[in-house]
Amino acid sequence: MCGIVGYIGNKDSKEILLRGLEKLEYRGYDSAGIAVADEQGIHVFKEKGRIAELRGIVDESVIAPIGIGHTRWATHGAPSQVNAHPHQSTKGRFTIVHNGVIENYAILKRDYLQGVEFKSDTDTEVIVQLIEKIVNEGLAVEAAFRKAISLLHGSYAIALLDEQDKNTIYVAKNKSPLLVGLGTDFNVVASDAMAMLQVTDQYVELMDKEVVIVTKEDVTIKKLDGQVVERAPYTAELDASDIEKGTYPHYMLKEIDEQPLVMRKIIQAYQNEQNELAIHKDVLEAMNEADRIYIIACGTSYHAGLVGKQFIEKWAKIPVEVHVASEFSYNMPLLSKKPLFIFISQSGETADSRAVLVQVKELGYKALTITNVPGSTLSREADYTLLLHAGPEIAVASTKAYTAQLAVLAILAAVTAEAKGIGLEFDLVPELAIVANAMEILCDDKEEMENIAREFLATTRNCFFIGRSLDFYVGLEGALKLKEISYIQAEGFAGGELKHGTMALIENNTPVIALATQGHVNLSIRGNVKEVVARGASPCIISMKGLETEEDRYVLPEVHETLAPLVSVIPLQLISYYAALHRDCDVDKPRNLAKSVTVE
Ligand code: G6P
Repeated sequence: MCGIVGYIGNKDSKEILLRGLEKLEYRGYDSAGIAVADEQGIHVFKEKGRIAELRGIVDESVIAPIGIGHTRWATHGAPSQVNAHPHQSTKGRFTIVHNGVIENYAILKRDYLQGVEFKSDTDTEVIVQLIEKIVNEGLAVEAAFRKAISLLHGSYAIALLDEQDKNTIYVAKNKSPLLVGLGTDFNVVASDAMAMLQVTDQYVELMDKEVVIVTKEDVTIKKLDGQVVERAPYTAELDASDIEKGTYPHYMLKEIDEQPLVMRKIIQAYQNEQNELAIHKDVLEAMNEADRIYIIACGTSYHAGLVGKQFIEKWAKIPVEVHVASEFSYNMPLLSKKPLFIFISQSGETADSRAVLVQVKELGYKALTITNVPGSTLSREADYTLLLHAGPEIAVASTKAYTAQLAVLAILAAVTAEAKGIGLEFDLVPELAIVANAMEILCDDKEEMENIAREFLATTRNCFFIGRSLDFYVGLEGALKLKEISYIQAEGFAGGELKHGTMALIENNTPVIALATQGHVNLSIRGNVKEVVARGASPCIISMKGLETEEDRYVLPEVHETLAPLVSVIPLQLISYYAALHRDCDVDKPRNLAKSVTVE
């Protein structure tokens, strides 16, 4: 979702900003822009579409040592050149970029900005007009900035330039992520460290409702009342090569291929010196004390939660509920006496999940975040964190983070069971090692996955995924992958449920991808396949070794049955990838979607 960069130093800022924005492309956007300031004034370049298009309109002759940039994912106002950021105040003195949603923008307009002519349909323009108005009324810029910020309700990450002071970037944040990066003779601003890793690995975290005065020599953090806050920087431990595609045509394919490696990293990261799986004792204590676990997540992470519920209930014997974050806030179920909340989020920044975290912390409950991003908002604000160790995931469609989430949830469930004295009839470490090997075999079988995609998905307009028990949840994820990147209408169903309505959509040759990895429901899912075949569907059965029959299109290597989701999802990821390729879709940056959804 929207991304921000800023630079102030001695070099020309244009290329640094554009490269930074390119690193934020993965978050999803529909327009982009930069504003840079030189002796002549502030120059704004903005365009609908990709950064490549923005590059085409940037005036190379402008050399400017200070600037801000933005990728926009439309919320208020259509994606267009006019609505793209940066936005300027009427007199052109102030220029702003903003992520988030200003909930009271209409009230602010009515109460403070009557008579002001607005150029765009965005909520953002209200902020920049408000700042100019307060400055015109006589306040110094910094005080005016703090005053304007204190009037905003909603979420924001903001960077502001003042044409009359080309030595300062004003920054503010609430709910939306934003960092300040430190350099020698320069400083930067970025939505995430990846964007500015090209120039520094030293970052300062910002907390909600803080403003920052950034010059090329100094970074001063203040509360809204002007009180200065001291905060030490941290080193962003990201390897720049992790965020390059290397020889891969797409990040998604690279990330699918990384899954066996990620499995092995997770096994290592969660082993103690005796090579036993271990989880921090505070987390185990919280698990032990809980009479019910509430898993909160969105999208792919929600699907991981559904599988995680099975691990925890089966092995650790704790009841689990899984909730979509955006619903939980407004429709909270009756909670148990001693709930523990587990937030699953690849990015650790998803606004819907964060809203629930804030709510449950206010109620005094404990929270554990399972995330790929150390230091992310959900990690910082929860009581405990378990990391995914998956390395940066850049493609919008989540792949390696999903299987990493399953692995960490499996480890959490198994170690909790152990701590509770519940004996498991298997050893998870070798079982996960078998999973890693199976993943490798599947990743090496891309040609076959491409054949399946061509055979079933080249021209279809819809596709169904069916499964029972754990396979149902993997089917949901398979359907999400396919629709996200190929735009084929895809839905996942419990095998037995299709006939209660949706079967009406089955026509001649409608592809139905059926998963059959669970022994106890193998016969039933095959019965469900027969039902759709009788109505003309084209079945593609993906089964697990030991359960296969002659009609199966693909047989997965055998792994522990409960861990099957970690393996059966790989062909679904690859089939979606090839279907999207055949349809000429932008695999890594699907239309309308964002990687990191930082607005509720
Ligand atoms: C977005 C992404 C999905 C992701 C979801 C939750 O919608 O496009 O791929 O699953 O957010 O993200 P999170 O970072 O919280 O796992």
